[in-house]
Amino acid sequence: MIIVGGSSSRNLASQMAQILGCRYIEAASTKFPDGESYTRIECESLDDDVAIVQNTYPDGNLVEMFLLQDAVRKMGARSITLVIPYFGYARQDRVFKPGEPESAKVMVAHLGLACDRVITIDIHKEAILDYFDCPHEDLKAAAVIADHFADKGIDMVLSPDIGAAGRARDVGERMGKPHDHLEKTRLSGTEVRIAPATMDCTGKNVLIVDDMISTGGTIVAAAKALRDAGATGVSVACTHGVFVNNAIEKLRGSALDEVLCCNTLENDASEISVAGILADALRR
Ligand code: R5P
Repeated sequence: MIIVGGSSSRNLASQMAQILGCRYIEAASTKFPDGESYTRIECESLDDDVAIVQNTYPDGNLVEMFLLQDAVRKMGARSITLVIPYFGYARQDRVFKPGEPESAKVMVAHLGLACDRVITIDIHKEAILDYFDCPHEDLKAAAVIADHFADKGIDMVLSPDIGAAGRARDVGERMGKPHDHLEKTRLSGTEVRIAPATMDCTGKNVLIVDDMISTGGTIVAAAKALRDAGATGVSVACTHGVFVNNAIEKLRGSALDEVLCCNTLENDASEISVAGILADALRR
């Protein structure tokens, strides 16, 4: 097995190679003067099973993924596994308004053209992966999130909406703590309304879990609802810290004690590593 790290995921990819004790090659990815992507894998040959670790977000990284697949195949890879820590376009998984594309399906159709296996982690909707013709697997970050917070005095685990209730249950059960979900209504791309928390949060140290934080609107509103309900501590852990428009600063200045995410997207809050989970999947 050879791990090729794309520019979005160099630290994660090299951690995975270290865990697996296999060869790691960092793709030399840059931009041409006109902004187009350039990538090169500097080695003699890749006569082995190859895993490319690269996000498909933002668009430049998606293009790099396509280019890496071609370069890896041309270098003689016996098989290609795409490890996509953060799968871009997963949220536009259906036509919400007439005239829209099914973006997630489009991405799968193109990414699946030149690979043999796909691994994602906490993809927004798992059903998207069924569009791939090749074997695919969506891993869960719940175990590493639960481990990270095991000794942090958490009393209960909540999700900000019913869509993430399964994640809260998974993390809560692993920690041996009660779990529940809040009620969220999305008002616009940046605004949400979270109904006042009905569970007994008085004096509780609450951990909110979600698959991703984008603008931070959801988590800011959830943290406020929990503080209003009497929670004394509120932390958040998500798998994918997208943090658009300085969302991380907004979150750190809100009712939250701690903001953490996994290293599917590498940033200064990505303290929880999914390298072990991904390495285990590759070993299988
Ligand atoms: C929604 O279904 C997701 O699980 C997240 O709650 C949402 O994408 C977070 O977005 P934002 O941070 O912009 O509120």
